[in-house]
This record gives sequence, C-alpha cells and structure tokens, in this order.
Amino acid sequence: MLAARMTKNEDQLQLCLALRPPAEGDDSGEPREKKIAVLTSGGDSQGMNAALRGIVRVAIYAGCSVFFVKEGYKGLLEGGEMIIPATWSSVSDIMHKGGTVIGSTRNEEFKEREGRVQAVCNLVQAGINYLVVVGGDGSLTGALLLHDEWPQMLQELMGTGRITQREASMYGTLQLVGLAASIDNDFHGTDMTIGCDTALHRIVEATDSIASTASSHQRCFIMEVMGRNCGYLTLKSAMASEADYVFIPELPEPENWQETLCEKLKYERKMGKRMNIVMVCEGAQDSHGQHITSQMVLEVVETTLKYDTRLTVLGHVQRGGRPSAFDRILATRMGAEAVRCLLDPEEQGQEPKVISLQKNALVRADMAASIKGTQEENEALRRQDSPKSVEMRGRSFGNNVQTYKMLNAMIESNPEETPKFTVGVLHVGQPACGMNAVVATLVRMAAHLSVRILGFHNGVEGLAAGNFEELSWKSVDGWVPQGGAKLYTDAKNAEGLEKDIANTLETNGVQALIIVGGFQAYVTALQMFQGRQDNPQLCVPVNVIPSSISNRIPGTDFSVGADTALNELTAMCDRLRLSAQGTFKRNYVTEVMGKHCGYLATMGGIASGADQSYIFEEPLTLNDLQTDVNHMKIKMERGDIVRGLVIRNEEFNPNFSTKFIYQLFAEEGKEVFTTRMLILGPLQEGVSPTPFDRDLAIKLAASAIKWTVEQLESGAGAGPDSPQTATLTGIVGKEYCHTPVTEIEENADFTYEIPKTQWWMKFRQLAKIVATFNEAYENGKVSLESLET
Ligand code: F6P
Repeated sequence: MLAARMTKNEDQLQLCLALRPPAEGDDSGEPREKKIAVLTSGGDSQGMNAALRGIVRVAIYAGCSVFFVKEGYKGLLEGGEMIIPATWSSVSDIMHKGGTVIGSTRNEEFKEREGRVQAVCNLVQAGINYLVVVGGDGSLTGALLLHDEWPQMLQELMGTGRITQREASMYGTLQLVGLAASIDNDFHGTDMTIGCDTALHRIVEATDSIASTASSHQRCFIMEVMGRNCGYLTLKSAMASEADYVFIPELPEPENWQETLCEKLKYERKMGKRMNIVMVCEGAQDSHGQHITSQMVLEVVETTLKYDTRLTVLGHVQRGGRPSAFDRILATRMGAEAVRCLLDPEEQGQEPKVISLQKNALVRADMAASIKGTQEENEALRRQDSPKSVEMRGRSFGNNVQTYKMLNAMIESNPEETPKFTVGVLHVGQPACGMNAVVATLVRMAAHLSVRILGFHNGVEGLAAGNFEELSWKSVDGWVPQGGAKLYTDAKNAEGLEKDIANTLETNGVQALIIVGGFQAYVTALQMFQGRQDNPQLCVPVNVIPSSISNRIPGTDFSVGADTALNELTAMCDRLRLSAQGTFKRNYVTEVMGKHCGYLATMGGIASGADQSYIFEEPLTLNDLQTDVNHMKIKMERGDIVRGLVIRNEEFNPNFSTKFIYQLFAEEGKEVFTTRMLILGPLQEGVSPTPFDRDLAIKLAASAIKWTVEQLESGAGAGPDSPQTATLTGIVGKEYCHTPVTEIEENADFTYEIPKTQWWMKFRQLAKIVATFNEAYENGKVSLESLET
C-alpha cells in the first residue's frame, strides 16, 4: 500500500523537489538552523506532555526550531502537515494532562524498510536531522533502526532524486535521543520510565477504594494489573496496598500454587483480616511457563476456599489521568537533558543515547545497549530463569521482592515465647503521610526479629510520661494507606526531658528507640546522644526515620510525606488552571509550606508549571520581583499563558510577604490580569500517602529495624563510651544509609532548620528556563552545558 502511494506521487515529488528552495545552510555546508523533531510513540504514558514541554522550551531557549510529529511514526511516514512547528505557547497548559497531546500510534508500516525510507525523506525535506523519540522499547528499537539506516537511505533517496546532494550531505547523520516512557517500567538501564509512578497512583487509589468494600463484605478481591511481562507495577502496588499474595512473571509460581495461595489467604483470615487482596500481573506464569490468568486465580479461591470473591481488571485506567508530580518532574528533567544531549558538541556523530534515571541522577545511556539489555530481560523470562530475571530488573527490584516476602511471610508466633528485644517508636514533628506506614512496617518486620514494639503517644512528652501501647501485627493492619499519625505527634524535642525519658526507658525495659519525624526528630536524637553522659539510661541505640512534608532533614535526599505533599499542592494548582479560564486572565499568588526549605515550592513549581517560585534559599530584590511582574504581563498579553502561577514558600522573606507579593502583582498587572492570593496550609499534608511515600516508608522502616537489632545484638550502646549508636536512616541517591547523627551536624543549619546544602537546588535554573520566554533574558543566559538536570 505504501509502495503504491509512493509511485503515484512520484511525479509530484519531482516537481516539489524542483520548486523547493535549496536547503538552508551556511558556507561550510552546515544547516543554518538546528531543527529538532519530537514524537511520542507506542502505548501512551502519563508525563509525555511534560516531556514535550521540557524539550520544546529548552530547545527554543537554545535557539533551535522544534517540530512536533503528530501520531507517532505514522506522522513521520506521512510527513507534510503531520510535521508541524512547535512554539513556546503550544506547550502551555498541557503538562497536567494525561496521554500525549500530539498523539501516538503503534505503527506497523514503520516496521517495513520502505516506510522508514519515506520517513527519512520527510525529515530531510523538512530540514530536520535531530530527533527525540519518547516511547517504550518497541518505539526506541524503531528509532535506532532509523538512525542506523539513515546514511544508506540518504544515498538511496539521492539516487532516486527525491533529495538533493546538498541535502544528503547537510543532513548526513541523524542525531537521535530517546526517552523511555511506559507505565510498565520495563526498559533496561533506567530506574524509572515516564508514566510508571502515575500508573502506581491509579492502581493504589483503586485498591484503597476496593479495600473498604472488600472489608465490609469479607470478600477476596483479585486485581489484575498491567505491565505485560514486567511485574514491577504489580509488586510495588502489592507492597503499597498490603496485598496478601502477588503473581509476577519474574517469580514463576510452583506447580502447586493453588495450595500455596489458599494457605496464605487462610492464614491472613486467621490473623484477623476481614478481606484479602491478590495482585496478578497480566503476564503471570507458573514454573512451566503456563500463563496464570486472574480468572484462574478467582476460580481457585472460589472453589477451594468458598470465599466470596470478585475480580477487578484495572485495564487502561492505569494508563490514564493526571500525571503524578514525580512523572512531571522526571519528564521535564529528561526532556531538558535530551536537548542538552542532542546539542552537545561531544555527542555529534556518536551513537544514540537514552536519557535514563540512575540513583536519582540523569545519565546518557547507550541506546543500543539499553535495548539489548531489555531484550535479554525478556529472554531470561522466556527461559524461566527467575534469579536472572530478578537480577536484570535491577537491584531495587530484588530488594522489593525480599521486602515483600518478609512483610508477607506467615509467622508461627508462640505466645509463650518472650521477645528478645523491646524497641520504642514515637513521632516528633508535624504529621506527614506515610508515618503510619513506617510504624506498621516496623511492627511487621519486628515480628520476624523477635522484637516487641511499644508505640509512644504524643511525641516526646508521651515518651517522657511513659504513655505507650504495645503494637501487634493485627493492631497495625490497614495502617499503610492512612494519612496522619495514629500514634499522634508533637513538634517538641527532648530538651529538658532527658531525665524523664531515661526513666521511661529504664522502667519499661526499652532497649532502643526509633524516632519518626522531621528536623526536630533529628534534634531529639542528637539531644539524647549528647545527654548520655548525665543519663546513662539513654545509652540505647536511637534511630531517626525522616518523615516531614518539607523534606528539610539533613542526611537524606527524601523524607516520608514530601511526595504526598508535592502531589497535593500540584493537584491544587491544577484546579487553579480551570478557575483561571474566566473572561479576564488570572494570576494566583500561592503560599506553600516548607518552613525555610524551598523543596516543595521548587519541585511543586516545576510540577505545576509555575511562572515563578520564591524560596528562602534564593534571596531576591524588589527589582527582581518587578521584572517578574513585567514578564507575567508580557506572557499574558501575548497569550503565551492563560493562567499565572506564582508560588511563594512560607518563609521566603518576612518583608516580601505573600500579601506583599499579591499586592505587587495585583497593582502592577491590573491592566492585563487579575490576581488572587491563596494560602494552601496544612491541606498539603494530604489524606493518604502516595505510592512513593508508602514505598519509602516501608524501605526506611525495614532498614531501620534491621540496623537496630544489629546494634542490640552486638551490644552497642551499652554505655556512654560505646560506639556511636544514634543514626539517621536516610536515602542518598538510591542507597539506604545509616549516618551517625553527629556526622550530619556539619550539614545542618540549626537556625533555619534546613540542610546547608540541598541537592534539589540544582533544578532552580531548569525551573526558570521552562517558565521563561526567550526575549525575557536581558542579562544573558546560562549555557546549556552548565544547566543541571
Ligand atoms: O506497554 C504499556 C501497556 O499498557 C501494557 O501494560 C499493556 O499490556 C499494553 O500496553 C496494552 O496495550 P494496548 O493499549 O495497545 O491495548
């Protein structure tokens, strides 16, 4: 069909070629202007729009022209009006939408060589030889093929007279970069693909909803989860939803899986659970490679256990809806890095790269090697090589499997047996979503380690007063999805209470403490450590698990609760977009939490497409603010934006208060737009932890209790001179680490209660670039080389 179309158009092509102006180049034969085409391909995923926005805005910033290829490879094949110029404003107001605004297809014609020849022809005729492909492994495989065949195809096209010799030499190579986007998270070499985090949101939201009805009717629910042959989504959502059993392709089920499953479900009921959740990946299999379908699982439970059982196939719901804050930020970063990579002089003529996330940093991975790795992963699955499959999915996949197994193991508890150790847990600071997940995980892990957990109520005061309850496996059932702090929390630290605390520990035989909370939780641990000389009873291992919506605790990149807050504030800013669609343009000055830490304001600004974010760490003058007002006026006047959003961190500057900034924008912008002021306040704390926060809570808690038991077993903390036994369990890069609280002091600003250096500050420049139009740069721009992504 394609061949016929080309023959029919042959004469027309020749005519076009004769009439077409010569390829625009300078004297050296280089194209005068760098033209970048971008397409989204394969199954869509949430965050693709944020990637488009990042690519377009950064490319325009760098002086390039950008073109959208509509409907994926189909548009590349058809050319003409399917390749359209992208402008700064064409990517306004899109990042909050799911899917891809430029369309996507799974295109069969592109798999044929003829189709790819046509695609090369269309690109060259449009003067384009820079390409960004956003899609899954199939899409990137197609892109790599196009790249490899490009020089040969140019010759063919020249031979048939469809492109000129000048064009062939000017566009001699295809400069290609890929962004791995798929909800499945099945692309080798990146910790996360664009869309996966949002899909987890959809699955976990659905499972939370199902849990309540399941419990009312004492039912068992089988949930079928997408992911093709990759069990990532299923495993992660099973952990986050406290599912009782999980079927994933990487762990083929034994022949007698029916028995194992029923045993486990019966055990859970015996332990007091009113309902069961079983997660089944669509590609689940047994050890003979036989497909295990969700329907089969349903039938086994119904016929063997006679439980009232229902099946929910989540389907494409998982691929839809608003992208999460994580996906918007990841996609923006990856989009910016794609442009940096395309234009980097050192990358010219090099092999294509895929922008990948590794340990919270972006790297340029070799595309061919990543595709090969993905193929090998699939091959290992086909061979039923479970250890290899798990290993190839990455270290964190293996850790997830281990953690899930521990949290879900059947424990034969013996009521006669005395636990080996007693550990206390308490919260210090403001409530943060995920605190309960931390406690629930501690209790469940402790059951394996012969540890009794005492939950102290009301923070340090409760600890000092000896106000506690003993927590059991059953008592924490259903805690993971719940926001707030079920043990109650208070921001007060241990100052002046050291003696009382020592007394509580001694009286109740508490051998170690785990403090879950914010900056003051860290301070409390430090005070306890320092108070050891005067109060020898304080010589116990103390561990801090960072949990604060502000993410302002030194010694960790992330704290439990911050991702939920980020998503809450992003959702609220999304709502403001609709409210701004009135007859007169509207700007919102929005105050967000964080105390003196600009994490929420900065990351929330990127995720919600804010025009500015003002933070304490980045002081500004009145002139700067005036410049921002002028920019906003121009953007509004030109129609670049329909909604203005200025985010102000609550402690940005006492003189430039939220009211002051509101009044400044309201007064100076009144001819062009109206301004409203909003203080989001504790609404940002959220109702239920996001999958990211649940995961972080579970991992930190599992790591902390293991560390605590190791300390107790080795006799550490037995006296004031014993080795350092007060640590903070944090995540740095992707490593879980236990850093002595005294070591962290160096990087702690005790006046403003923030870390002195903060890793996310590097995104300030990127946040500005994606929100600022080119003409606004009066004082020059930073070079792309120095832009950090
Ligand atoms: O690869 C993404 C994905 O959503 C898979 O999880 C799923 O198996 C498949 O695509 C569904 O494809 P389609 O949307 O073409 O039905």
